[in-house]
Amino acid sequence: MTTKTQSNSGGALDGIAKMLIEFTKFGALILWYFMNGLKKKKVSLSRDVPLFATALVTSLVLANIDFFHAHWPYWIPEVMENILFWYKSFIGPVIYDVTFFGAFVFLYYAVTGKNEVDRTDRIKKAVKILSKGNDKTYPKVIKIEKLNEHKTKVLVDSPFAGLDKFKSSHDDLESGFNQQIESISRGRSPKYIQIILNTKSLPKKFDYSEVREDCTKPCHFILGESRSGLLTQDIRKLPHMLIAGTTNFGKSNFFKQVLLNLLQNTNHIQMHLIDLKGGLEMKAFKDLPNVNFVSSIDGALTTLRNIKEEMDDRFDYLYKVGHTSIDPKRDKKDRIILAIDEASVLYMKSYAKTDDGKKTLEARKITDELAKLARAAGINIVIATQKVTKETLDTHIRENMSGRVSFKANDNAASMTIIGNTMATDLPAIPGRAIFHFGSDYEEFQAPLLSDKDLEKSVSELRSEYIEEHREVFQPELISNSSFKDGDKNPEEDYEKPKH
Ligand SMILES: Nc1ncnc2c1ncn2[C@@H]1O[C@H](COP(=O)(O)OP(=O)(O)OP(=O)(O)O)[C@@H](O)[C@H]1O
Ligand SMILES: [Mg+2]
Repeated sequence: MTTKTQSNSGGALDGIAKMLIEFTKFGALILWYFMNGLKKKKVSLSRDVPLFATALVTSLVLANIDFFHAHWPYWIPEVMENILFWYKSFIGPVIYDVTFFGAFVFLYYAVTGKNEVDRTDRIKKAVKILSKGNDKTYPKVIKIEKLNEHKTKVLVDSPFAGLDKFKSSHDDLESGFNQQIESISRGRSPKYIQIILNTKSLPKKFDYSEVREDCTKPCHFILGESRSGLLTQDIRKLPHMLIAGTTNFGKSNFFKQVLLNLLQNTNHIQMHLIDLKGGLEMKAFKDLPNVNFVSSIDGALTTLRNIKEEMDDRFDYLYKVGHTSIDPKRDKKDRIILAIDEASVLYMKSYAKTDDGKKTLEARKITDELAKLARAAGINIVIATQKVTKETLDTHIRENMSGRVSFKANDNAASMTIIGNTMATDLPAIPGRAIFHFGSDYEEFQAPLLSDKDLEKSVSELRSEYIEEHREVFQPELISNSSFKDGDKNPEEDYEKPKH
């Protein structure tokens, strides 16, 4: 029997090497942790630095304890000695590493779990801002449920503060929760309020072409990417939409994208497009045979009169045939979209004193009637304007535009007029970021960016489909009638509509 002695030669070097290995492992771990943590906003220096320091020191100590330092007793059989030798050299360090990292992960989750407890406390405290000032009457959180990685459902028993109170305290609640609120609604039992919190961030920019194929149903259009996925709408349900917000935050881009999307998804549709900002923004749509493009006040007025006349005719028709609303396919009448960008130029009240004054008043009056009644006649209105004040948009018209989209607003007053709360003021200064408000819902979204090239390409494809008669309009005369009548100078005279 031979006795093999394990030498402890180069002990110091061995120690340094082990330390270096430990430092490298920790370096990689810390880097991984902070990159992930920073992304998820989970890093807390006061919590994480002591945690890592303790773990590193423990690891160094453990790595330098030589459990098998002693000489093997002479009576250990050679085979056993060999096993121990292999254990010490290869298997041992692996088991050590696995155990150590297991312990680390356990510690990590224990601390993150503590974070969860802090978060629960925070949520419980936040809803107390809706208390009636007495300890017994504050809303009580009865359930906090994690729905997925990003979403948390909070159910609140609130016998004293109703849904409206919660909605109007949206901003305060958000600061209290220190998290974005995705929605506030009534719970399954009307006694409870359900709040959905979401940590998911929205994209800052993406192209229309990336999502185009995800919304193809007739009369539907894409609003943008929300925290709960792609947000789409059916124009028939709105039935009118107001788009507002500070200059340069994406109104016109969104307006164009909505119109293009509606044109792409819907057959038997015609669009009366009024662009009073020089007609440059929307000029790509001119090439479509189902679009009446107007860029002057006179043209706008002619268009409005014609649409009003068509609405009245459609009501006579509905009365005669006994239907309650127009179904384009059944009634062989197109869905009509009246779309106005920079609407304040058309409706500005101060113009009432100028030569165009009468026209402004008439435009307001017709739009008001259309906004009130046109839904059943298969006519929808989409209006974009920078400012929403009594001066720029009649209150009655605004009240009937039940779908509201607000890009970043300059101040709380502007946000309040557009969507009824201050969410649009609090939006980050990102072009294309907006709030959609419909009924009692509010949803933040990032609108897709529609490049001029994409718009031109899509318009050209649509145009071919009309020429090849894969698509058609039932009432082409409505488009041509909206061009100028005798005696008027037609500002669109340089433009020749393609024949179909
Ligand atoms: N959805 C979007 N994603 C990324 N960038 C966008 C988006 N929408 C608009 N932008 C950027 O913002 C700029 C201004 O957009 P747009 O002209 O649509 O704003 P606007 O609100 O209509 O401005 P104005 O009030 O001057 O008419 C665009 O040129 C584009 O670069
Ligand atoms: Mg614009």
